[in-house]
Amino acid sequence: MIDVAAANALLREALSVQGVTSDPRPLDPDRPPAQAQLFSDGRTLYKVYAPDALTRATAQAKAQANVAQSGLAPPILFQQNTILAMPHLGGPDLATLWQKADASVAVEAGTWLRAYHALTLRRFPFRPAGHVKWLARLLDQADSGERHIPDQAAFRQAANRTREYAEAARKQKATRAVTHRDMTLSNLVRDETRVLGIDFENMREDEPLRDLFTLALDIATIGNVSSLASLRAAYADRHTAPPVRLFLQRCFCHWVWANTPTAPSRRQTRRLDFARGLLDSDVLIL
Ligand SMILES: Nc1ncnc2c1ncn2[C@@H]1O[C@H](COP(=O)(O)OP(=O)(O)O)[C@@H](O)[C@H]1O
Ligand SMILES: [Mg+2]
Repeated sequence: MIDVAAANALLREALSVQGVTSDPRPLDPDRPPAQAQLFSDGRTLYKVYAPDALTRATAQAKAQANVAQSGLAPPILFQQNTILAMPHLGGPDLATLWQKADASVAVEAGTWLRAYHALTLRRFPFRPAGHVKWLARLLDQADSGERHIPDQAAFRQAANRTREYAEAARKQKATRAVTHRDMTLSNLVRDETRVLGIDFENMREDEPLRDLFTLALDIATIGNVSSLASLRAAYADRHTAPPVRLFLQRCFCHWVWANTPTAPSRRQTRRLDFARGLLDSDVLIL
């Protein structure tokens, strides 16, 4: 974790090494200590990680530079120790726009995610075993008291149903791709007419629909409108078989539920309500 003052000191040092003479200011001067702090001089945005987060900063720089080659992320201008420099996009991010009920957000998000997954997407017969094991582990942890899951009995009942869905999904049409893994509306930023992604770290293959699900969670729980059909239409996955979609959707809902803390924030309560609603109804949003 790093606070604004410590990040500012690190940044000044790095800028003098780089010979940069501008005077970047914190994007949010009151931001509490966080993984990283952000500064900008209006043209260049500096993301400053704590000195002990070099591996993380380097992973982010590498992943973002890689995606930037395809025009889907801003380039990394330079990395100096734990500081990343990139163009400051026109903005704002899609979470901010969605709070203002900007109608094109869902389509923009779905379109960007489709293009991003397309870089690495491959078809793959679905294997539910890993998910089934993960669910069993969650239930074990809840039993042993290692993990608190709200309304545990209802969670167990829903999880048992989910396990029954695994068989129908096995070997059905599915895809794999390098996923973002923190695919929120706040990690998509508008720049004039296009949208670019930021905050990459992951370079491994996973379930692409997990990224679509986390975007849907944001769309359903930030602001007061829902536009899940537009998100899904823009993402336009015509390959994955419905039983796979349904099984994965249920797993992602369990993930939200099992990670809801004992004293949830309003936002976490909305996310949990959304997940439980989907588990009850099985309405497919993916
Ligand atoms: N290059 C950029 N141009 C414009 N805004 C940005 C840029 N990078 C980050 N931001 C803004 O700062 C916010 C936080 O940046 P991010 O890199 O996602 O940090 P964190 O790891 O704290 O989520 C983003 O949601 C976005 O609003
Ligand atoms: Mg972010």
